[in-house]
Amino acid sequence: MSLLKQTEEFLESSDLNERKKKGQYFTPHSIKEAALNEINLFDGARVLENSCGTGEFIHSIIQKNPNVCIDAYDIDPKMVSMCKSSFPGINVQTRNFLEMDHKPEYDYVIGNPPYFEYLERDMPESIVSKFKTWFDGKPNIYALFIKASIDCLVEGGKLVFVVPKSINNGFSFRKFREYIIKNCNILNMSFYKANMFKNAQQEVMILVLQKLKRGETNNKNYLFSKHGMNEGNVPIFTLYKDRLESEFNNSKSLKELGFKVKTGNFVWNQNKDIISRNKLDTKLLWSCNIVDNKLKLDLPKLNLSPVLPVEIDSCDVTDNTDCSGEKEEVAPDPLDLDCDGELTTYDCDGAVTADDCDGNNPNTVNDNDCDGPEKVHLRPKFQKGQYVSSTEKIKPLKGRAIILNRIVGTSNSSSLRAAIVDFGDEEYYVENHLNVITETDESEYTLEQIYDELIKPEKVEMLKMVTGNTQLSQRELENLIPINIEKKHDGRNSTNKLTIKFKKMHPHAVIPTYAKEGDAAMDLYAVEHMKDKHGNHVYFTGVALEIPEGFVGLLFPRSSVSKTSMSLANSVGVIDSGYRGEIMLKYRHVGGSNSIYVSEDRVGQLMIIPHPRIELIEVEELSSTERGKGGFGSTGS
Ligand SMILES: C[S@@+](CC[C@H](N)C(=O)[O-])C[C@H]1O[C@@H](n2cnc3c(N)ncnc32)[C@H](O)[C@@H]1O
Repeated sequence: MSLLKQTEEFLESSDLNERKKKGQYFTPHSIKEAALNEINLFDGARVLENSCGTGEFIHSIIQKNPNVCIDAYDIDPKMVSMCKSSFPGINVQTRNFLEMDHKPEYDYVIGNPPYFEYLERDMPESIVSKFKTWFDGKPNIYALFIKASIDCLVEGGKLVFVVPKSINNGFSFRKFREYIIKNCNILNMSFYKANMFKNAQQEVMILVLQKLKRGETNNKNYLFSKHGMNEGNVPIFTLYKDRLESEFNNSKSLKELGFKVKTGNFVWNQNKDIISRNKLDTKLLWSCNIVDNKLKLDLPKLNLSPVLPVEIDSCDVTDNTDCSGEKEEVAPDPLDLDCDGELTTYDCDGAVTADDCDGNNPNTVNDNDCDGPEKVHLRPKFQKGQYVSSTEKIKPLKGRAIILNRIVGTSNSSSLRAAIVDFGDEEYYVENHLNVITETDESEYTLEQIYDELIKPEKVEMLKMVTGNTQLSQRELENLIPINIEKKHDGRNSTNKLTIKFKKMHPHAVIPTYAKEGDAAMDLYAVEHMKDKHGNHVYFTGVALEIPEGFVGLLFPRSSVSKTSMSLANSVGVIDSGYRGEIMLKYRHVGGSNSIYVSEDRVGQLMIIPHPRIELIEVEELSSTERGKGGFGSTGS
């Protein structure tokens, strides 16, 4: 881990659970190096380390440049006194940073803020009033630190923080993201595996922000937004912005396709009294019921009898052992880590890790919980059952649906498991670790088509890009997983829609429209007219398109042109996908000029169709056919 000697001493002399409560984790050398390489610590730079702990970052900063002015704070007096004696020239004080005045006076804020769920009821009033606008769901203390640290930066100043990745997309962090976007550019995000910290299984990132100067607006780097994702459309932070944008160019979200996503409403540890093994009761679907993307009920692990709390001494989540202590006999399910069901519907924001099996704060998971001396807990364990004996407490579901695992693993090894549920009119429950997709009246496709898309291996790639987290929230699934059914149907399905961006080049431009359902081409409207040097009449439409690669726009006259003396000068216009200019139609008038279109008249029609890229191969002989070389007139008149 390569920590300072004083940090090792502190770890030895302090209690793990106490450290967890205060969010005390210590940054290893390699991460500190990477963080400090993000900035240029110039002579005289004013640096704030607002959660300094034993001084890991102070040490590294001084090594880089001893001629900087550091202010350092920590809430823990023991660590502050260690820092004071190790770094006598530095201003280190015991302070609760969140309660301090936050004035813009630092060139850099550097550190690894504490992380734990910080509920409003646990905060002093002064902190509640300062941060309340930014809470949404369950706040985590590190997000409060980010917000307050931005406030401490001068314009152009930089924040370099080691933080969990949940800020990037977690729903409860959306207002903090909004604050970041409004006040900073994201300069970089680099990710680190879960095992970098002692006693924490948290995947972290180095987040580098630069405070905007007055009048400057966010450059949108690392931001991806999909309409409907959040109220106010707050983007997620991602390394894969371009890829997500291009994936969504020809795809739609489940929401856009008319499907609804909910999180299973049965929180099992709050409803143990009604879980049963009686096959006549209402079915309860668990994540482990998805086996090879099919629904499989009555697995032995769910039907150990009787249904009674049992005392076990540990919960081993690293092998296929179920929480009951029984070896799993069927359907190895390494991701079914929901040992005690601590996850609640309130947690559906992407901020929960798969490792929350110990019921602790998900961000402060202890990797030692399942083995070794301080790790063995005696806790009542409950054996799962496949049924629910009463439908009075919670409303069951009815009708066809797709169920999907919410806990999707780590960002390195994610998996998306889905199954179609079809019990006819029978009611059923879905456990809280599953998401449920249902059709609505607006659904453009069948559940089977959506299921086929979701279980494709490439969807896991998307999942990693979108969540970067260990779970796929209801909102992410509904809005941020691109479903590309166009490809599947090869463009032949009449309900298929292709989204194409357009730009108005003239204030009075009329957006091209299909006149009727089923029309192959859109009508184009004139907005201006002029004559070119060859005497052709040029009609401007005031519209430019971004036709995707692999498609072409073809311009035709409308059939009513036959009543006039006009014809398109180039017979058929070809608009290549790379063309971004205004669409124009050139007509040749044979005879009088009384038939000139006027502004807002429909001047032609545009058909957009896919085209393959053809590779010509020269051969000696072509294959023989019945028609052979018969050309013009060969098939009769
Ligand atoms: C994740 S540790 C980081 C320690 C050290 N900076 C490092 O990187 O090794 C977070 C530190 O924040 C301190 N802390 C927790 N709440 C705080 C608060 N409200 N104000 C200041 N420090 C706080 C903890 O005591 C802990 O030392």
